[in-house]
Amino acid sequence: MHMMIKTISLLTVLASLASTQAYQNCVVPHGGYGIDDAQGLKAILPNCSSDATIVFQEGKNYNISTPVNFGTLKNVEIQVLGNLELPKSIPYVQSLVNATAGGWVDSFGLPWWQQAQYTQPLGGLVNRPHGWSITANSSTVRYMKLRKPIAWSFSLTGNDNHVYGNKIDAAYDINNPGVFPFNTDGYDIKGNNVLFENNWVFNGDDCVAVNSGNNITVRNMVCEGGHGASLSATTGVNNVLFDNMTSINSLYATRFKSGLNSVGNITNVTWSNIHVHNATFPIFATGVYYDQNTNRGRTPGVYPANSTATHIKNFSWINVTGTISDVYTGDGSCTTNPCWYYVANATNTAAITLQLLNGTATNIQIHNVNLKPIDGKGTPNVVCDPTSFTDGTGNLGFKCANGPYIPN
Ligand SMILES: *[C@@H]1O[C@H](CO)[C@@H](O)[C@H](O)[C@H]1NC(C)=O
Ligand SMILES: *[C@@H]1O[C@H](CO)[C@@H](O)[C@H](O)[C@H]1NC(C)=O
Ligand SMILES: *[C@@H]1O[C@H](CO)[C@@H](O)[C@H](O)[C@H]1NC(C)=O
Ligand SMILES: *[C@@H]1O[C@H](CO)[C@@H](O)[C@H](O)[C@H]1NC(C)=O
Ligand SMILES: *[C@@H]1O[C@H](CO)[C@@H](O)[C@H](O)[C@H]1NC(C)=O
Ligand SMILES: *[C@@H]1O[C@H](CO)[C@@H](O)[C@H](O)[C@H]1NC(C)=O
Ligand SMILES: *[C@@H]1O[C@H](CO)[C@@H](O)[C@H](O)[C@H]1NC(C)=O
Ligand SMILES: *[C@@H]1O[C@H](CO)[C@@H](O)[C@H](O)[C@H]1NC(C)=O
Ligand SMILES: *[C@@H]1O[C@H](CO)[C@@H](O)[C@H](O)[C@H]1NC(C)=O
Ligand SMILES: *[C@@H]1O[C@H](CO)[C@@H](O)[C@H](O)[C@H]1NC(C)=O
Ligand SMILES: *[C@@H]1O[C@H](CO)[C@@H](O)[C@H](O)[C@H]1NC(C)=O
Ligand SMILES: *[C@@H]1O[C@H](CO)[C@@H](O)[C@H](O)[C@H]1NC(C)=O
Repeated sequence: MHMMIKTISLLTVLASLASTQAYQNCVVPHGGYGIDDAQGLKAILPNCSSDATIVFQEGKNYNISTPVNFGTLKNVEIQVLGNLELPKSIPYVQSLVNATAGGWVDSFGLPWWQQAQYTQPLGGLVNRPHGWSITANSSTVRYMKLRKPIAWSFSLTGNDNHVYGNKIDAAYDINNPGVFPFNTDGYDIKGNNVLFENNWVFNGDDCVAVNSGNNITVRNMVCEGGHGASLSATTGVNNVLFDNMTSINSLYATRFKSGLNSVGNITNVTWSNIHVHNATFPIFATGVYYDQNTNRGRTPGVYPANSTATHIKNFSWINVTGTISDVYTGDGSCTTNPCWYYVANATNTAAITLQLLNGTATNIQIHNVNLKPIDGKGTPNVVCDPTSFTDGTGNLGFKCANGPYIPN
């Protein structure tokens, strides 16, 4: 769910690791209590902007009180082994962002999440900073740990990138989500030939959202809370694989979403070997996504007959096992009535939910699904409209009618 937050790139890194020249190792000095480590970082940057590794040392808590613009880096790797801490006060952070539009790694997001909930448009606090906006080719982002991000965490744009071993902790109490981490997307991905693996996210929005590109693999990942392994686009994404994903207590485990009245095509997308623990919507696709801000006033699921949607082709879900959240469904992101994620005809045991307009899908296959309500009561259900599919429902793998899941 991407809401109308002003986009501020806190950190734009242009890094290329393609070259094999000798690197220099630039250790960011740690000043100790009361010292703003941003100054030490700025001081070393001129010497470390090419063929270098910039290291935030393990075991150190860096105090990044003022924004740092890394500028254009060439052949540089940034290793965040220690913790980067931001100022805690919201007005202070706002004025810093306002002042320079520079950037830093964030933390202490809780007050931002709280205020976001009561702000209209939802989540749209002035100058709410975003996370790491990285534009890079042939680069690696690894071993980063972000704690209590203020809003989204990583926006990654570029080709031939490898992202692994990162952790994003926007954790909240799922049984008492009084403070819900709105808009804390884990990864928003744009690019070709991108590999994501062994990452961990606990958050309140998309765990990973593929937005555009070709040949993108996301695998061996754990997504907790949040809105799942998501393909979120209207067009311009092809050949995407989500494999071996573990979903824990999420609203969605896997999701395709595209806004109502979109045009365009998305082809060749697979979710395979998905381990679901307690998801409200384990398998979900919508061509009529309802945005709590921009679609305010519209009723979810109600649209004119002439509405258009993205055309999806060759989508498959294979080997999806686990449990459906049927006791306490949904999550703390619901602040409108009806809820933005309300689906007409969906029950509380929604194994497969396909909200696809007439004639907007071709060759959709959903096989080897073993999803059971978490309390063991009731049957897994599907929402499915046979008019959605240009090639009929023969490939689908289950009986396409609102009601119980019946594989065929
Ligand atoms: C962080 O740096 C600021 C100066 O910019 C200082 O006022 C503050 O005390 C420092 N905080 C810590 C925890 O060292
Ligand atoms: C940057 O490199 C120059 C030349 O090697 C050196 O004299 C200077 O001390 C370095 N500055 C820093 C901040 O490391
Ligand atoms: C941002 O800067 C403008 C112009 O200097 C100022 O009017 C405004 O109050 C600032 N907003 C925040 C949140 O600091
Ligand atoms: C399932 O998820 C719901 C909502 O996220 C949560 O309230 C509930 O405690 C979870 N159940 C189990 C058994 O984990
Ligand atoms: C697809 O991306 C992977 C990296 O994830 C790369 O190794 C592979 O060569 C790419 N395939 C094509 C056809 O570009
Ligand atoms: C699946 O991913 C998990 C990490 O989430 C990893 O431990 C496991 O080895 C992976 N399984 C396979 C078959 O790759
Ligand atoms: C989508 O595919 C259709 C049929 O192949 C084609 O006519 C149309 O131009 C495509 N639209 C876009 C935006 O690529
Ligand atoms: C989809 O996959 C098929 C089979 O691998 C391939 O021939 C086709 O080019 C792909 N479509 C797109 C749009 O990449
Ligand atoms: C559908 O028809 C209505 C009424 O004629 C019009 O206002 C609207 O723009 C049309 N929508 C699309 C997507 O064509
Ligand atoms: C689905 O699971 C079966 C049995 O575990 C395995 O043999 C098959 O390779 C899996 N399919 C995919 C697409 O990973
Ligand atoms: C709900 O299901 C009924 C019967 O299958 C169908 O007539 C109706 O159009 C569905 N409503 C929506 C909004 O999909
Ligand atoms: C679906 O679209 C086809 C082709 O445009 C049309 O013939 C059919 O009547 C539509 N079906 C429904 C239920 O709207």
